[in-house]
Amino acid sequence: MKLYILNGPNLNMLGIREPDIYGKQDYACLIRMIEEHCVGLGIEAVCYQSNHEGDLVDKIQEAYFKGADGIVINPAAYTHTSIALLDAVKAVGLPTVEVHISAVDTREDFRQISYIREVCTKTISGKGLGGYIEAIDYLYDKIRK
Ligand code: DQA
Repeated sequence: MKLYILNGPNLNMLGIREPDIYGKQDYACLIRMIEEHCVGLGIEAVCYQSNHEGDLVDKIQEAYFKGADGIVINPAAYTHTSIALLDAVKAVGLPTVEVHISAVDTREDFRQISYIREVCTKTISGKGLGGYIEAIDYLYDKIRK
């Protein structure tokens, strides 16, 4: 099984960025945690972070062309603005889980909008870095069935 784990803008700043909201662990730590978990399940994890919307669109398309089974994506601020990411997930038709480290539903009004949500099979929000693990486990079970 192959999963693409995609992270949007400013998530490379984990650990530095608003640690009261996003925690003290950095991006490298997140990737280590994901890779260790995936190795245990026999999943090939392709991890990618970008601050640029088009790069994320390219990676979603790449997931399709390189035969991925599913996508875990934290689109970060592009959650609330990007129709391009919505269209990309719709185009590839891969099972996709939307992850947010913070509880977006309880934050500012502008964070209540998620364009990508309607094409995601599940949304996990407010569970910290553990949300990525939950998303991987969800896809693992769903795809194996
Ligand atoms: C985020 C929430 C978004 O509103 C924000 O723009 C982010 C991170 C989260 O993981 O909680 O950059 O997606």
